[in-house]
Amino acid sequence: MGSWVHSSLSLLLIVLLLHQVRGQTCDYFQGSWVLDSSYPLYNGSSCPLIQREFSCQKNGRPDQMYAEYRWQPHGCNLARFDGRGFLERLKGKSIMFVGDSLSRNQWGSLVCMLYTAAPGAGYNTTLDGDVSTLTFTDYGVKVMHNRNVFLVDVVKEDIGRVLKLDSIKSGKLWEGIDMLIFNTWHWWNRRGPSQPWDYIQVGNKIYKDMDRMVAFETALNTWAGWVDSNIDPTNTRVFFRGVSPSHYNGTEWNEPSAKTCLCQKQPVLGSRYPGETPPALAIQKNVLSKIRKTVTSLDITNLSLLRKDGHPSIYGLGGRTEMDCSHWCLAGVPDTWNQILYNLIFLT
Ligand SMILES: *[C@@H]1O[C@H](CO)[C@@H](O)[C@H](O)[C@H]1NC(C)=O
Ligand SMILES: *[C@@H]1O[C@H](CO)[C@@H](O)[C@H](O)[C@H]1NC(C)=O
Ligand SMILES: *[C@@H]1O[C@H](CO)[C@@H](O)[C@H](O)[C@H]1NC(C)=O
Ligand SMILES: *[C@@H]1O[C@H](CO)[C@@H](O)[C@H](O)[C@H]1NC(C)=O
Repeated sequence: MGSWVHSSLSLLLIVLLLHQVRGQTCDYFQGSWVLDSSYPLYNGSSCPLIQREFSCQKNGRPDQMYAEYRWQPHGCNLARFDGRGFLERLKGKSIMFVGDSLSRNQWGSLVCMLYTAAPGAGYNTTLDGDVSTLTFTDYGVKVMHNRNVFLVDVVKEDIGRVLKLDSIKSGKLWEGIDMLIFNTWHWWNRRGPSQPWDYIQVGNKIYKDMDRMVAFETALNTWAGWVDSNIDPTNTRVFFRGVSPSHYNGTEWNEPSAKTCLCQKQPVLGSRYPGETPPALAIQKNVLSKIRKTVTSLDITNLSLLRKDGHPSIYGLGGRTEMDCSHWCLAGVPDTWNQILYNLIFLT
């Protein structure tokens, strides 16, 4: 009897120790890309839910190897994405991506991964203002995208369109959602005709313009305040996705002759991107560290930086007239973001 207790305790201790070691060394976000013939997880040409601008194969991209890379973290393995398991376990729940077209990119990836894993499952799409919803009707699972490029509000007033860094009325749309994945970055540096505001307001002060990094940080702090006062962590899980990098300058990956991502067929091998990491990351990290409620960081910047081969280039929305080295082909890199999301939700 005594020895049975003793060996059980030893076993428990070993399991705990192993868990501890695993906890210390397993970082999903550090690793490298490896070719794996069991990928991609779906056929980008035959998923009916994919947006045309991400459907590179359909748009004529000739090479396909970019879709066959699997992310291999150092020190542990990611569980393969199980779409049926995902739908079963999230029965009746809603998951919403909030952000710009890169959030839409990730949304498209997730709905295709789920659609392909559960063929024949009923689904339904609706568009209500800035919210697109895909409902897997047999499971009651809603996968939503709320297009909202700054997270804080842009309001039409007499003086013009005002970007209000401390106002977040659009948060109404996020209430009652079970899982929220936020992101904002790509629109903060826009100037000229593609800048969708005329003035910036903070408190009672109106500015014609200001340091964009300061504006970004102020808005993120407003968002953090919203999370702290509106999220009940027992009901809602919150993620923040890191900056999705672009590849318009080959000097960054030691190929100065490459002016864009066009004709890139392979990732940067190894784990280190030679170019600099986007400065916005430090700001994100700082804001996330001050937030009181639990927000899980989906820190996909470094792993995506390595994927100079993953963008549509001329096989996106604009076709040959537009070089897109900012969004991602589907199937492709955002599938890995969702695989990591799946591991974070169910396995950690
Ligand atoms: C993907 O789907 C397209 C269109 O249905 C088909 O022509 C193509 O052969 C499929 N590719 C693979 C690898 O199955
Ligand atoms: C799809 O959604 C619309 C709008 O919510 C609804 O009227 C319709 O009944 C739904 N269809 C299915 C098959 O659930
Ligand atoms: C590309 O990046 C290099 C190194 O960061 C920089 O010196 C160069 O000006 C950049 N080229 C363009 C066209 O932005
Ligand atoms: C990303 O890479 C940079 C530069 O190599 C490094 O300083 C940073 O810690 C990395 N971040 C993560 C989350 O791995």
